[in-house]
Amino acid sequence: MALKEKSNIASPATSAVADPMLDVPPATPVADEGYETVGDYTAAKPVMQARHLDVFYADNHAIQDVNLDIGRNEVIALIGPSGCGKSTFIRCLNRMNDTIESARITGEITLEGENIYGRQMDVVMLRARVGMVFQKPNPFAKSVYDNVAYGPRIHGLARDRTELDEIVQTSLERAGLWTEVKERLEQPGTGLSGGQQQRLCIARTIAVNPDVILMDEPCSALDPIATARIEDLIDELRQKYAIAIVTHSMQQAARVSQRTAYFHLGKLIEVGDTDDIFTNPRHKLTEDYITGRFG
Ligand SMILES: Nc1ncnc2c1ncn2[C@@H]1O[C@H](COP(=O)(O)OP(=O)(O)O)[C@@H](O)[C@H]1O
Ligand SMILES: [Mg+2]
Repeated sequence: MALKEKSNIASPATSAVADPMLDVPPATPVADEGYETVGDYTAAKPVMQARHLDVFYADNHAIQDVNLDIGRNEVIALIGPSGCGKSTFIRCLNRMNDTIESARITGEITLEGENIYGRQMDVVMLRARVGMVFQKPNPFAKSVYDNVAYGPRIHGLARDRTELDEIVQTSLERAGLWTEVKERLEQPGTGLSGGQQQRLCIARTIAVNPDVILMDEPCSALDPIATARIEDLIDELRQKYAIAIVTHSMQQAARVSQRTAYFHLGKLIEVGDTDDIFTNPRHKLTEDYITGRFG
């Protein structure tokens, strides 16, 4: 039954042999995994674009044919039940999955039009341009100052100490942390409170002039006050960067994002304006999730 075999390659119609048992044109590829994302996956000002992205961990098809833009001056929230592929998706955007041996990625991701999986892509540079903030704040075992100065030093962004001081101060200011730490720049970053540590990690990300900031549940380990500060900060950072945030809090997604993408079992089910997704979801799975019937 060759004609029924799943194939990604459409055979040319001319070579197809009509099967009298089938009532459909035999050249039509049968894709039983086929689905279409509901809503507009493009951004007004795209910085990164994922197209036909598939990710496998050995046999586990963790991301299935996902198309999605990350846009400048906006926050996109990635939501969905645990294990649906949110972390996998954002890890692809700065090639963090390169370190996972079983991971295999197909499709295309571009940054400002350039294929990030292309041979000419410098992965160290890529990770500066596409920074990542993790669930658990992970400052280096260095001073507050050296945490922020680390990236600019590696990338040679400052000519002298005065310039480096400026970058450190500006980054800490943008991260809303300067006034709290300016008297303790030489003290260990790990000695700060959880919320301060997370803002320090954001300052460290900003210090190398990224285009995109990825955040994977950045507030899960924080109390409500520290969370509110980070959420305010994310809203300010939107003026300058493209931001993608994974969150399991729908309230947080509604508060901080302009676009929301709903993932389910590796598929991008629905994407659109956050207001629309939460007030008028079009897909049944999205509706079930946001009304708390699932997940
Ligand atoms: N490092 C890994 N190795 C193997 N499988 C993984 C790895 N990370 C995630 N997975 C699998 O990929 C799927 C998606 O996981 P993940 O991206 O972590 O989802 P989410 O962030 O939405 O909870 C799950 O089935 C998970 O078990
Ligand atoms: Mg995750």
